[in-house]
Amino acid sequence: MQDNLKHKHKKHGFTGQLGFVMAAAGSAVGVGNLWRFPYLAAKDGGGLFILIYLILTFTFGFTLLTSDIAIGRRTGKNSINAYKEMSPKWKFLGILTFLVPVLIMTYYAVIGGWIVRYIVVYLTGQGQAAAQDSFFTDFITSPGQATLYAVLFMLFTAWIVFNGVEKGIEKYSRILMPVLLVMIVAIAIFALTLKHTDADGVTRTGLQGLAVYLTPNFKGLTLRRLMQILLDAMSQIFFSLSVSMGIMITYGSYIKKDVDVNTSIHQIEVFDTGVALLAGMMIIPSIFVFEGVEGMSAGPGLMFVSLPKVFASMTHLGRAAGLAFFIMAAFAALTSCVSVLETITANCMEIFHTKRKPTTIVLTIIYMIASIVIALGYSTFYIELPLPNGSIGQILDLMDYISNSFMMPFISMLSAILIGWVVGPDWIIEEVEFGGRKFGLRKLYAVMIRYIVPVIMFILFLQSTGILNL
Ligand code: PFF
Repeated sequence: MQDNLKHKHKKHGFTGQLGFVMAAAGSAVGVGNLWRFPYLAAKDGGGLFILIYLILTFTFGFTLLTSDIAIGRRTGKNSINAYKEMSPKWKFLGILTFLVPVLIMTYYAVIGGWIVRYIVVYLTGQGQAAAQDSFFTDFITSPGQATLYAVLFMLFTAWIVFNGVEKGIEKYSRILMPVLLVMIVAIAIFALTLKHTDADGVTRTGLQGLAVYLTPNFKGLTLRRLMQILLDAMSQIFFSLSVSMGIMITYGSYIKKDVDVNTSIHQIEVFDTGVALLAGMMIIPSIFVFEGVEGMSAGPGLMFVSLPKVFASMTHLGRAAGLAFFIMAAFAALTSCVSVLETITANCMEIFHTKRKPTTIVLTIIYMIASIVIALGYSTFYIELPLPNGSIGQILDLMDYISNSFMMPFISMLSAILIGWVVGPDWIIEEVEFGGRKFGLRKLYAVMIRYIVPVIMFILFLQSTGILNL
């Protein structure tokens, strides 16, 4: 275990376990938790989705997260070189993994920009205007506004990455993540106290909304529907935990050998899942109270279209609640976006042997241009692309589809084969157990990585290409 004993972690890295867990949780907790999880739960049978999600997180999510972090710490490298070190023939997998953040970065700052726009809305008291159906569409289709906010968010992100791991990422995550947690708990509790009587004289309360969120709904459940829920939950887990895209490999390469990887992984999982559950607890009851069960079918529009209506319907606290919600969402998106840019920067520094600051500047310029193009995808460069899942998308959706739905299951499948059958699960287990640490779920890990992950990822991949239509 020669390579394991060498002092491989870099000069610049996380100061300790807490800094690492906060930064990794910062990457994991993002718009996926606040916006995607609640709308999937509303669509996929409430408590039923939650139950499936929890089981999959602590089996699949745990396996993929453990693999990424252990690969990073053991090799001390970024995805391209890390996979090459595991097996030179598998360098292509590192390159493929690197491409995921390269694609995600083109649109993540655009979504971050949308959130910042809503902060400005509530700061300047335009809450009523934002509650109009056309507000969001008017905003994203206005070339000037959409690009301005995307560029602004890109610059915030770049600033943190420019300052490095310890003085940038760790420092900001240590402040932003606890604040986010406190804010989301407060807003969720507030959502449960809501009460509203609509024009027909029907009164709905936050607690009734909570019951709608948590009660498993088996109505119309067929095998096909169950498979669909499983697939939704699985792709949500990838996205939410930021796995299979090299991000956790990069963050893993910044941790010291004395950090307990196993405990950190559980903490990251609990943080990420906890925020997702709380986000649902905040969003679903609020929408239920003001718009009833029908309001829940808004799907992706839940965060930017339905929520502003909820804030507008609250008589006095609406503006403050709206502002708190979008500030919190901006923190979540910022720490995630930072992890994407950091992974690209770190890989580039390794490939081109360049220093952090010039690398960040060059990448910022490139991605500012990319963000502008994507932001203009709703106006100047508007297209209607049919995607294999049957939906029609714009450029942003295309990037999202290629990176999340298509590449992530494929990468997870290949990396499970590499770990399970080429280097062997012990290669990961030894790293987790390094320094005499306990790895309680080692057997589960080995079975998952060898047999279960490759098969399920294969099915997921076929589904995403449209070859299989469950
Ligand atoms: N995990 C983040 C979320 O749940 O929103 C999203 C994310 C971050 C996705 C970083 C991809 C990524 F590279």
